[in-house]
Amino acid sequence: MDGNGRWAKARHLPRVAGHRAGVEAVRRVVEAAPDLGIEVLTLYAFSSENWKRPADEVGDLMGLLRHYIRSEIDELHRNGIRLIFIGNYKALKPDLVTLLETSAERTRDNSRMTLAIALNYGGQDEIVRAARACAAELPADQIDAAALEARLDTAGLPAPDLVVRTSGEQRLSNFLLWQAAYAEFVVTDRLWPDFDRAALTETVAEFSQRERRFGGR
Ligand code: IPE
Ligand code: MG
Repeated sequence: MDGNGRWAKARHLPRVAGHRAGVEAVRRVVEAAPDLGIEVLTLYAFSSENWKRPADEVGDLMGLLRHYIRSEIDELHRNGIRLIFIGNYKALKPDLVTLLETSAERTRDNSRMTLAIALNYGGQDEIVRAARACAAELPADQIDAAALEARLDTAGLPAPDLVVRTSGEQRLSNFLLWQAAYAEFVVTDRLWPDFDRAALTETVAEFSQRERRFGGR
């Protein structure tokens, strides 16, 4: 989800206004995704590198996260959404961690769609944590791709078919590095706060035109 700052700047608004508009886009996309047959939607909300931003912006993002979960959890649950969190989210403030874990627990049996929110997430950090878990549990000759995959934060989830990047940036920025090995990549110039049901539908249509070979021919 990229482009909140540019969206605000274009309107001569403070960055936080862009982040607020970004939350509205999250609401729209989470509502539309199950209708398009999306089974798992992963949102890159806060990266392990986003701590480099000024403290007040980090505070705004954490405040918006808290507000989003509190205000949406009933609706998400009603809509059959299972909420999970990936990344080192346990390093966030204890009250926030409790809110996240309570929300995940409450929605754990829902099956219409899984909404994974990546918080304090970095693909390299996730792989390092999984590698450490492998090393602690297994002899070296039993550490293989399946063993590592089973210890990623996304264990049990399918690999993503499609990675969408908004605001025209053409890079992965440490998102799902392992899991995106064969994902299709779609870049749109649209800024995240302008993303909506129609944009998601268009993106999925573009994805469905791709010919996927997974290294075969
Ligand atoms: C996305 O928008 C923010 C996060 C999800 C942390 P940005 O804040 O990166 O917006 P730009 O790149 O400045 O436009
Ligand atoms: Mg950005």
